[in-house]
Amino acid sequence: MVSASERILELKRKKNAVILAHNYTSPEVQDAADYVGDSLGLSMAASKTDADIIVFCGVSFMGETAKILCPDKTVLMPEPDAHCAMAAMCTGKELREFREAHPDYAIVGYVNSTAESKMEMDICCTSSNAIKVLRSLEGRRVLFVPDMNLGAYAASNTGMDIKLWRGFCSIHHFMTATRVKEFKDRYPEALVMAHPECRKEVLDLADHIGSTESMIAAARSSDRKEFIVLTEIGMKHRLEKENPDKIFHFMEHAVCTTMKMITLDSILDSLTNGTGEIILPDSVIAGAKGPVKRMIDLA
Ligand code: 13P
Ligand code: SF4
Repeated sequence: MVSASERILELKRKKNAVILAHNYTSPEVQDAADYVGDSLGLSMAASKTDADIIVFCGVSFMGETAKILCPDKTVLMPEPDAHCAMAAMCTGKELREFREAHPDYAIVGYVNSTAESKMEMDICCTSSNAIKVLRSLEGRRVLFVPDMNLGAYAASNTGMDIKLWRGFCSIHHFMTATRVKEFKDRYPEALVMAHPECRKEVLDLADHIGSTESMIAAARSSDRKEFIVLTEIGMKHRLEKENPDKIFHFMEHAVCTTMKMITLDSILDSLTNGTGEIILPDSVIAGAKGPVKRMIDLA
């Protein structure tokens, strides 16, 4: 019997499709992908591909960003209802109201946001370029949306005093310094790596702070044999695969359930029947393209 992976491979060739997957997706999804990476890497990969179809294995803001960057391509999301809860914490309407009340502010928006709210931003950023993006606005008044933890972390690295939206990712926000200290006591030799979506009290205990892809690179180049990884558990797959001699510890609650909705069967269905196509109105693509492109051009 032909396996799901073999059928995906054959359909990919036949339809000139590429599969992009986030570092948080399930191991079998990552193994079926042509490119696995962080939000910035995936946006770059989408903007460079010459495939006709992009199958995006991630949450909806990621597929929407690919569509904004490549409006002429077909972007399929195997699970279009896989959303990032943080993206819903800030709406386009709220940002329009803020802009009307504070016309002197530049709005910097984490890509973990809806396409509609991207239309109201001056520039987007990801966890890997938030500091660089803020520096490009030195001297301006800045509102950072929606993630208050990433915003606070990036601001503290630039010395800028910025206004923060009150959004957060529950997976990262609910990691506490007490729990991290327990892990450190249990694994005293471990290097602590944290995603900047974690709170300051957790980041203060970390040896390395950065995007998911920066953690993969840090683990690869480190001499340490043990790591405490303060981000989502999907990262375990690549970290263990690329570093079979090293050990990685995660917090049990760190599961992004929507990322885990994507399966080989849903990829196969999407490729076979074109299900989950991202359709955005031309006006939304036109309005959101500027902020996303400005970020890519800075990278
Ligand atoms: P990265 O851009 O670091 O992959 O992060 C995306 C994300 O959703 C973190 O929760
Ligand atoms: Fe969104 Fe958090 Fe999931 Fe990242 S881990 S996609 S921020 S809900």
